[in-house]
Amino acid sequence: MHHAPAKTSASLVARGQVPREAPARRWYYGAAPGQQPLHAALLVSSLLLLALAGCSQEMDEQPRLEVYETSEFFEDGLAMRPPVEGTVPRGGLRLDVHFFEGKVGGQLATSWPDDITIDRAFVERGRERYDAFCSMCHGLAGYGDGTVVARGFPAPPSYHIDRLREVPHGHIYDVITNGLGRMPRLSDRITPRDRWAIVAYLRAMQIGQHVEVDDRLRAEVERATAVEKSPGDGKGRPHE
Ligand code: HEC
Repeated sequence: MHHAPAKTSASLVARGQVPREAPARRWYYGAAPGQQPLHAALLVSSLLLLALAGCSQEMDEQPRLEVYETSEFFEDGLAMRPPVEGTVPRGGLRLDVHFFEGKVGGQLATSWPDDITIDRAFVERGRERYDAFCSMCHGLAGYGDGTVVARGFPAPPSYHIDRLREVPHGHIYDVITNGLGRMPRLSDRITPRDRWAIVAYLRAMQIGQHVEVDDRLRAEVERATAVEKSPGDGKGRPHE
């Protein structure tokens, strides 16, 4: 073919493998005789392009609606259509009300959902999540004396009172999920499984702290643990 060698040498020029002044280059940019065929080809191809552009324009400019645009076509005036009623996002089928809402038969669950196994790893996970998401208000041991409270936030009740020892697991799950009074809902930050892990850890804390000791002994224990604590921590932990 006639063009092939010229193309090859042009790319060699581009890659710096042929000196820029090599004669091959002049076929494109040189004066007089060599340039005629190129001009003709350019003219033809630009005409072709114009013709093609003419065709595609119609398709490009068909009437269409953008995301969030208004539309008179639908009654609600929106271009975007809501999903059909009953549509479930992938992975969003939350049929297990016990697991996802902490309820059984419309009542706060007193049992654990079938889907979770309470073992050491699960409670450890709960403790890690508790420390990250709850301890700043409720305190590391759950006495309602976290660092935020020390700075003036209203104190939550201690977990170690009879009423909270007796509430169903589902109540604690529900408080984490939906908040309560001045406590914010945390469902957007903590997955359902992790919420159950926290409930399990909270139960472990309650059991761990519910030891009948006389006040003198308790005071001694508290003094002893206070010495070991790192400065600023302020609280001991029930299970260390
Ligand atoms: C920003 C501070 C804050 C955080 C964070 C927080 N809480 Fe609370 N929590 C409170 C306050 C304040 C109350 C008391 C709410 C009221 O009765 O108005 C409370 C109440 C509770 C109660 C008692 C509900 C009752 O029936 O009295 C439980 C249980 C509880 N929180 C668990 C948790 C758990 C578990 C977490 C972490 C996942 C958590 N909270 C995170 C501030 C907080």
